[in-house]
Amino acid sequence: MQTQSKLPNIGTTIFTIMSGLAREYNAINLSQGFPDFGCDPHLLDLVQKYMSAGFNQYAPMQGIIQLRERIAEIIRNCYNASYNPDTEITITAGATQGIYTAIAAFIHKGDEVIVFEPAYDCYVPAIEVHGGVAVPLQLCYPDFKINWEEVKQKVNPRTRMIIINTPHNPSGTVLNENDLKELQSIVTGKNILVVSDEVYEHMAFDGKPHQSVARYEELRKQSFIISSFGKTVHTTGWKIGYVAAPKELMAEFRKVHQFLVFAVNHPFQLALSDFLAEQKNYMELKNFYEKKRNYFRNLISGSRFGIEPCTGTYFQLLNYKKISEEKDTEFAIRLTKEKKLASVPLSVFYSKQTDNKLLRFCFAKKDETLEQAAEIINSL
Ligand SMILES: Cc1ncc(COP(=O)(O)O)c(C=O)c1O
Repeated sequence: MQTQSKLPNIGTTIFTIMSGLAREYNAINLSQGFPDFGCDPHLLDLVQKYMSAGFNQYAPMQGIIQLRERIAEIIRNCYNASYNPDTEITITAGATQGIYTAIAAFIHKGDEVIVFEPAYDCYVPAIEVHGGVAVPLQLCYPDFKINWEEVKQKVNPRTRMIIINTPHNPSGTVLNENDLKELQSIVTGKNILVVSDEVYEHMAFDGKPHQSVARYEELRKQSFIISSFGKTVHTTGWKIGYVAAPKELMAEFRKVHQFLVFAVNHPFQLALSDFLAEQKNYMELKNFYEKKRNYFRNLISGSRFGIEPCTGTYFQLLNYKKISEEKDTEFAIRLTKEKKLASVPLSVFYSKQTDNKLLRFCFAKKDETLEQAAEIINSL
């Protein structure tokens, strides 16, 4: 039988590879973005409560209304914006499904989608599998800023979508008000949708507010906000997220969503809705991770690695220019095998494997894990 791959250039993701190596070599795993500590036990009790109470059949296609109302409340509290829980918010099986569905619902053959590199790995395959054309623009090291002039030049009648991500994985940078205004002025009046990946929305540090597209009246009319409870309540394995968008866009989104997953698991949605009634359960996340960031950076302040700025997410970039001239993929693999510390080399987030001698380390880890990792980092 002869088949033709729709994604001939896609192999196993680097996260799977590095986590596999970390397991094989018994290395400390700061590669994949997930906590090595548990979530709040109260959240687990709530899941148990709803499972035992019999909420084990299909949830409504859009997600349970209590959780959608809770999300509307969170968006109002954080960004002073109003989304209708009935028609403008949908619960998804993680942010990945939200992003995929937004792309599937709107991207036709030949449509161009602007993405910024380094880019989270799920954007480009989702575009290509639907016949779209990814147009990668570079966020240049060391500040990883968007060059809005370049964006303006690249926009043409085939441009159908721009994907942004703030706080940004893997660089740990955040967009500012000026960036969002630039974006707003570029897309307003054009048939260009914005997919705003905001999974780290509650992890913007140093007193700088997260710039959600929800804050911008014109911009949000043509935007999808994508978020993930996995990041917010330390449960990446549950794969529950949400998407918010204006009614007309959401109606199209749901047409695809219903045939992709139909509905997301029921008792977890009920538990999340109760748990997030307490504002501190999302409002305090930035302090929690800011402390972890500071702790990790202090631990390695004397090392030969260069510590890059980190203003959001739970990722810290370190450059190893003073240590080795090896390619970042080779260095990351050697660090895992020989020194027993796994990270992610940054070149894998670029279509042209740009190598700035940078590794990404996840600091969503117990203090003792960070201490053990720091010991290795300081020894190099
Ligand atoms: C930028 C970004 N977007 C999306 C996702 C996927 O989130 P989820 O696990 O909810 O699908 C991640 C996960 O690491 C991410 O870092």
